[in-house]
Amino acid sequence: MKIAVLPGDGIGTEIVAQAISVLQALALPFEFEHAAVGGAAYEAHGHPLPEATLKLAQQADAVLFGAVGDWKYDRLERHLRPEQAILGLRKHLGLFANFRPAICYPQLVDASSLKPELVAGLDILIIRELTGDIYFGQPRGRRSAPDGPFAGSEEAFDTMRYSRPEIERIAHVAFKAARQRNKKVTSVDKANVLETFQFWKDVVSAVHADYPDVALEHMYVDNAAMQLVKRPKAFDVIVTGNMFGDILSDEASMLTGSIGMLPSASLNERGQGLYEPSHGSAPDIAGQGVANPLATILSAAMMLRFSLGQPEAAARIEAAVQTVLEQGLRTPDIMAPGCTRVGTAQMGAAVRAALG
Ligand code: NAI
Ligand code: MG
Repeated sequence: MKIAVLPGDGIGTEIVAQAISVLQALALPFEFEHAAVGGAAYEAHGHPLPEATLKLAQQADAVLFGAVGDWKYDRLERHLRPEQAILGLRKHLGLFANFRPAICYPQLVDASSLKPELVAGLDILIIRELTGDIYFGQPRGRRSAPDGPFAGSEEAFDTMRYSRPEIERIAHVAFKAARQRNKKVTSVDKANVLETFQFWKDVVSAVHADYPDVALEHMYVDNAAMQLVKRPKAFDVIVTGNMFGDILSDEASMLTGSIGMLPSASLNERGQGLYEPSHGSAPDIAGQGVANPLATILSAAMMLRFSLGQPEAAARIEAAVQTVLEQGLRTPDIMAPGCTRVGTAQMGAAVRAALG
């Protein structure tokens, strides 16, 4: 099982090191190959996604990714910015389906920003389309406004686009996932204002005809943002476009206690995947050894399940995470009264020990 390891920047290197050590403790035949990505790759090779890194990712069975970015790169040209690395990997590997499970572990019910009764038992899955929408749509750029009340002044523009096959394939993924869960899909759009999302709604409804056993509801994104904090447990699977999914999944992460708890998987049509925590490189706490490695460790578990055909090993890691939380071990982001404060490496070591 060949795993491309791309730690990236900031806390990326710290948390990926812990995930690797947990994988190694499973004593399975993994082959890890490391490569630079993001700001680290820009420093070493002058590009955030060097050809060699991309090739390694393409040839691996799975990619384990940390995070990229740092404020110090904010003034670089857009194509040299660290964040272009993750966008490039998604595009080149065709990683169109992003799974972000938001699970509130019973031990962290009090860490959530919501009242315990709203989040106790929470287990929802956000499926975000990852290779289309306004993040990739052309044309984009800056120009002199051709018309309107501000004609002649400087303006910037992006383009929101979705094609029928792009919406169909993500809708199939969502309905199939719901079949394995509580058989309900909420498709989030802005059909009342945007033509792209009226089309989205129509196509998702058409695909739904193949899944009569799954319930489908449509919801506008503004209402969805509200319902996520009002009655989060009413959701099962949420499927939405790239930008709405980006925002709603960060919102959902806070229901679980911390963004440091939220893993993700990004899959292509061949089942190959990239696995990363939902958070970024956290420059504010990088190098201090305090980042929560659990989102990355749980991402490694998703990798074992989705790309490497090792569901038992995945379940062992997930159980070990529950055990360390049960033991009261907490990184600062999930610290609570009566618990034991630990750093990144101690948390990783505790998960390894709990694997049994
Ligand atoms: P961020 O997710 O890095 O941090 C947001 C807040 O959450 C910070 O206060 C941070 O300390 C905290 N946090 C994040 N992960 C944590 C962890 N594992 N344990 C404890 N606390 C944690 O988002 P931010 O600050 O907006 O962006 C920082 C950099 O990361 C930027 O350059 C951004 O572009 C990049 N980024 C990269 C992503 C990726 O590589 N996929 C995703 C999101 C942001
Ligand atoms: Mg985001």
